[in-house]
Amino acid sequence: MIEFRDVHKTYETGNEALKGIDIAIEDGEFVFIVGASGAGKSTFLKLIMREEVATSGEVVVSNFKLSKLKKRQIPYLRRAMGIVFQDFRLIDTMTVFDNVAFAMRVVGASQREIRRRVPYVLGLVGLQDKSKNFPPELSGGEQQRVGLARALVNNPSLIIADEPTGNIDPELSYEIMELLTEINRRGTTVLVVTHDHELVKSFGRRVIQIHQGLVVSDSKEVPHEI
Ligand SMILES: Nc1ncnc2c1ncn2[C@@H]1O[C@H](COP(=O)(O)OP(=O)(O)OP(=O)(O)O)[C@@H](O)[C@H]1O
Ligand SMILES: [Mg+2]
Repeated sequence: MIEFRDVHKTYETGNEALKGIDIAIEDGEFVFIVGASGAGKSTFLKLIMREEVATSGEVVVSNFKLSKLKKRQIPYLRRAMGIVFQDFRLIDTMTVFDNVAFAMRVVGASQREIRRRVPYVLGLVGLQDKSKNFPPELSGGEQQRVGLARALVNNPSLIIADEPTGNIDPELSYEIMELLTEINRRGTTVLVVTHDHELVKSFGRRVIQIHQGLVVSDSKEVPHEI
């Protein structure tokens, strides 16, 4: 469960990115976050990841009150999250296998667990045959699927994706969204920021629209302008 209670975020520059967000997202939901550039979408996600801290109000993520979260507790919060980046953020000098394994190594998984789990998630995203390749040898869509595998490998209860399809073509975008839908069907909560109106329309999920730091619509209807 994610809850925002009258959340404001003003950056040090005086920029008011969020101006009073009240929203609840239940476990197991699939939610699109839409809105114009600068609306506050990434800020919204960064507060959930505790990459930024709210200026006032409260953000609650799986029973953690983030305003009261101690620095040393942040890894526990993050462990329950898988994050997919628009620009993939893979390590080009590591194989596909090692890019995914790395996420397990940092949380202290054993070699045995890694050998069992990594091929399984690479299979889920259809990349079992690419495990020995390096990211520059893959297409954009394949690289994004490695990013997705890495986000999934620690079995998170929440996946956060900030424009995961921003750098890939429409067909592959659809494929990535299908994968996220499948992951959601297995019980993981999924939050996706996207500018892709067609994608949002074709998936028919809850859509939260942010405009100038406020939620201006929240429904299964696709807003007119995103
Ligand atoms: N680190 C920062 N310091 C100061 N201002 C910031 C910072 N990050 C974002 N902002 C400002 O906060 C507002 C919201 O930014 P945010 O990145 O959340 O928008 P967005 O909806 O994700 O936009 P985009 O679609 O372009 O990614 C913008 O006015 C932006 O300039
Ligand atoms: Mg953004």
